[in-house]
Amino acid sequence: MSRTLELPRLRPIARLPALAGAGLGADEPAARRAPGDVGHVPVLANELLDVVEASGIELPGAVAIDCTFGDGGHARLLAERLGAAGTLIAIDRDPLAEQRFEAFAQEVACSVRFIRAGYAEALELLAGEGLRAGLAYFDLGMSSMQLDTRERGFSYAYEAPLDMRMDPAQSLTAREIVQSWDERRLVQVLREFGEERHARPIARAIVSRRASAPIETTSELVDVISSAIPTPVRFAGGHPAKRSFQALRIAVNDELGQLDRALPLAWEVLGVGGMLAGITFHSLEDRRLKRFLAQRARGCVCPPELPVCVCGREAEARLLTRRSIVPSASELERNPRSSSARLRAASKLAEAKGRAR
Ligand SMILES: C[S@@+](CC[C@H](N)C(=O)[O-])C[C@H]1O[C@@H](n2cnc3c(N)ncnc32)[C@H](O)[C@@H]1O
Repeated sequence: MSRTLELPRLRPIARLPALAGAGLGADEPAARRAPGDVGHVPVLANELLDVVEASGIELPGAVAIDCTFGDGGHARLLAERLGAAGTLIAIDRDPLAEQRFEAFAQEVACSVRFIRAGYAEALELLAGEGLRAGLAYFDLGMSSMQLDTRERGFSYAYEAPLDMRMDPAQSLTAREIVQSWDERRLVQVLREFGEERHARPIARAIVSRRASAPIETTSELVDVISSAIPTPVRFAGGHPAKRSFQALRIAVNDELGQLDRALPLAWEVLGVGGMLAGITFHSLEDRRLKRFLAQRARGCVCPPELPVCVCGREAEARLLTRRSIVPSASELERNPRSSSARLRAASKLAEAKGRAR
């Protein structure tokens, strides 16, 4: 369950890292970082600050919820603007993020709180406490720290045990899915979460290989996937295992289930005038966020032939991004991992009237 670490108000930060380098090595205590660990470069950080400004929120003194703390790159930028009277609540299910948070808490002037849990459970806790926040945001997917920690098995580029858990205390791993889920379920995961066109032959190859020997590592799985994909496709476009690895990671961490539960809860904890923002990295997440915000921004749903509104429905949200915001050319050059990122945001105009979560 969730674990809450409350910290007292701390001394003001002497200097905040520059935007592009926020969360990078130079400002962090050496004890928190392994040599060569450059941390996570926050994506669309300037753009997030721009939409916060466009929403009209008074940041000094506000309560902000960072639902995906990671290396605290976005959180640092927000904390600077919240000032000593503000509060930043950070959520992450990865113990590595909690370690990074402890260093962050020593640097910032605002009040801070960390909840180590899935963001759906953490937001449920906050809603139960009756919290009202000015801002809640998600920066979805995995952090560079997770991707680059080889032994966690997130990357097809490194030889590692098949793991992919964001919360290492959880029991389901990628190995278990690959070893024990039936072929039909594997096809479904690869198709739905990876949008993998070759889901069926890949699933068949997994089932056939594991019948003779268990598939234990990332490179064994890459071999099985590559063997199931037609040769011309294998050499065209991205890495042949990219979509399957994404699918497994989403399944292991129940990423879409968490998001579906979390969005209404994040909306619920916002006060009127507050803002919800999300940075997504693939179409499955982006569609969910887009639909969620559009539903809240929709007013009257009466048929057009009615002369007056009888439904009484009023928009609860104002969209701050009619189209999603994508990284600039210079960000793409600095950080190629930002290439699929999209930012969407809306501000809350009114409390929902009788809407079910
Ligand atoms: C892209 S990183 C966030 C990086 C962060 N914004 C920064 O600038 O350093 C995503 C983080 O969200 C966390 N995360 C992903 N899904 C989560 C969930 N359902 N509940 C809690 N944390 C989650 C991951 O563990 C990871 O640390």
